[in-house]
This record gives sequence, C-alpha cells and structure tokens, in this order.
Amino acid sequence: MDWSAWRDEFPTFRTMTYLNTCSLAPLASRVRAAQERFLDEWEALGASAWYELWVDALDSLRGKVARVLGARREEIALAPSVSVALSAVASALDYAERPRVVLSDLEFPTLSYQWAVKPAAERIFVPSTDGIRVSPNLFESAADDRTALVATSHVYYTSGAIQDIRAIAKVAHGHGALALIDAYQATGQLPTDVHAADIDVLVTGGLKWLLGGTGIAFLYVRGSLAETLRPTIAGWFGNARMFDFDPKVFEFHDGARRFELGTTANAAVYAANAGLDIVLEIGVDRLRKRTSELVTDVIERLFDAGYVLKTPDSPAERAGIVAIQMRDPPQAVRALASKKFIVDYRHDRLRVSPYFYNSPDDNERFVQALRAVTPPVT
Ligand SMILES: Cc1ncc(COP(=O)(O)O)c(C=O)c1O
Repeated sequence: MDWSAWRDEFPTFRTMTYLNTCSLAPLASRVRAAQERFLDEWEALGASAWYELWVDALDSLRGKVARVLGARREEIALAPSVSVALSAVASALDYAERPRVVLSDLEFPTLSYQWAVKPAAERIFVPSTDGIRVSPNLFESAADDRTALVATSHVYYTSGAIQDIRAIAKVAHGHGALALIDAYQATGQLPTDVHAADIDVLVTGGLKWLLGGTGIAFLYVRGSLAETLRPTIAGWFGNARMFDFDPKVFEFHDGARRFELGTTANAAVYAANAGLDIVLEIGVDRLRKRTSELVTDVIERLFDAGYVLKTPDSPAERAGIVAIQMRDPPQAVRALASKKFIVDYRHDRLRVSPYFYNSPDDNERFVQALRAVTPPVT
C-alpha cells in the first residue's frame, strides 16, 4: 500500500501535522467532491433528487455500514447522532422489571445520559482501577437479573483500550440482558463482526475513523431483536408505509429502520458515503495493521522521551488513541496548535490518534514539539 499517496488525498497535511482522528478526521478531497456533487444535484434537480438519487444514497450508506460491521443492511438505521440513535433504542425498553443499566466509569458521557434522565432506570457504574480499562469480571459482578442492558464502549475514548465485546455480550446474556456497544472509536479502524461478537445493539458515527463529516450516525440492531422492539419515539422514516402519508396509521418498519425518525441531512449522507468508500477500499484489516504500527511507533518515541502514558501496554489491547498524562493538557494543546500540531485532550491527558495517512515522521515531529512545549513530568 502506498500510504503517502493516500496522504495526498488529505490537503490538511500540507499545512499542519494532524494527529487527531479520534476527535475529527481530516477532510478528504473525495469527501469534499461528494459535498459539491450533493449541492450540484440539489441545484439541478431540486426535490426530484430525492427520488432519482438521494433515497438510493441512503440505502447505499446503510449497505456500506453493514459491510464494515459484518451486519445485514436491514439491521442498520441512520441517525443524526449517536445520542439520537441511543434515545430511540432506550425508548423501546421496559424498565419496570429490569431497571438497571450497567456501564463503566470510562464511557463517553452521552452513552450514560440516556438513562440519567429516565426516572425508571438505574445506572450502575463499574469502576476502572487504572483509568485505562475495566475488567470484564467487574461487569459480571455488577450485572444481575434486574439488568436491562450492559452498555459500554468497544474502544475507550480516553485511553484507546479495546474491550472484548464478545465477553461483554456473554456477561449480558448470562443475565438475560442486552449488550449495547458504543463503537464510535472503533468502527473503521478495528475489524468488527457484530454477529460473531453476538452483541445486540451497536451505535457508531461517521466523523472519526470512517472519515465522513458531522451530522450522521449509525445504529445496528440484531435482526431478530429489532422485530421485537417498539420504540416510543417515532417519525415518518420509521413507518413501513412512509409514502402513504397517512397520519392515522403507523406501522413499524421491518428491522432497524423502525428506529429512524425524520428527514436525513443529505450533505452528511454524501460525506459519510465518500468516507466509507475510502475505508472499504483500503480495508479495515489493513487499516488496523497500519494504525497499530503507527501507535507502537509513537508510544516508543514517547517512552524514550520520558512521558507517562494512560494507554494499554499490549499492542493487542490498544487501538488508535494514545493518552499522555499531563499537568496542564489544555495549555499543551494550545501551544502545539500554535506550532501547527493538532491533537486534543480529555481530562488529565493529551490524546494523539494516528491513522493511515500519518507517518513515523509525523510522530517524531510531534514528540519533538511536545518536548519543546511540555517536557515530561518527572
Ligand atoms: C465513544 C463516543 N461516543 C459517542 C460520541 C458522540 O456522540 P454523538 O454522535 O451523540 O455526538 C463520541 C464523540 O466524541 C465518542 O467518542
């Protein structure tokens, strides 16, 4: 694979060292071209673009997401954000007999907030002893026969630690609960097979490792499960007969589509389609290998420079995020940005997230710049 040719696809690299895919992927020329195509179609066709092109674009997007997750197309729904996808799923559960939702301390907040606002639901947080990962045994001790869901991340956004989602599914199912995985930091960079992992629900989104832009997210619901769930928030896209325009009759769409609500943001759909084309063209296995190599490379350089990391030591356990412990991460991020190095921070750590378009040279220049702005804590 000629990785430097792929780098040319991302003009951002002409002006800066960008190592922040875990926040937002840089803009690919193909994604820009797809946005322009969407605008041209809108201008040329107006509303008829819906029937001639855009309904197909939605379906094509569902199909690509299905490929990347090992799912079937009818198991995928589109949503404007992970928060909306989660809300739709959370609305379909009955908390009377199973009020509990087991999460960990390390989840991205929006995963937990769905149940924070539901008086009938009770959240149980499994602690992390090292701030990097959570032992599957702790999920097992926290789940019981009053648990509706074990809801946790595939990759933790603050440490890059990969969780064994098959083990999570086993824990949930052992108690008659569902396994819901927030895979936003995994999809694209980590091979995923939702059927082999035996999970029930997965949420993910377009703007990080899938190279699309904002305003689009994806929901997987296991086929046989989707048929049994009846969301209590609805919109016309979730109606099996949406084009009947009958306000009196709502019939749940087959499969995951029942969780879709209203009109899609088609610029975002075009961006996501184009980003996914790149991911599928390279292939997730290759992306995983390349990202692992770059992560190991930057970790070695950071160790040599004396930094303390909050990322797993074992390459098999870590994805494309490297967390560096810092005294004042916001200051470090600002100082680096002023030198055209783009990374970000969460809590007490700076996050660096190399992807296929980065290079060992980016890593070296980043570590040199970091040493200049924030020497390691001794
Ligand atoms: C793990 C994880 N989940 C969810 C989100 C965002 O969710 P939403 O699409 O609701 O903004 C992010 C974004 O940073 C994330 O890292």
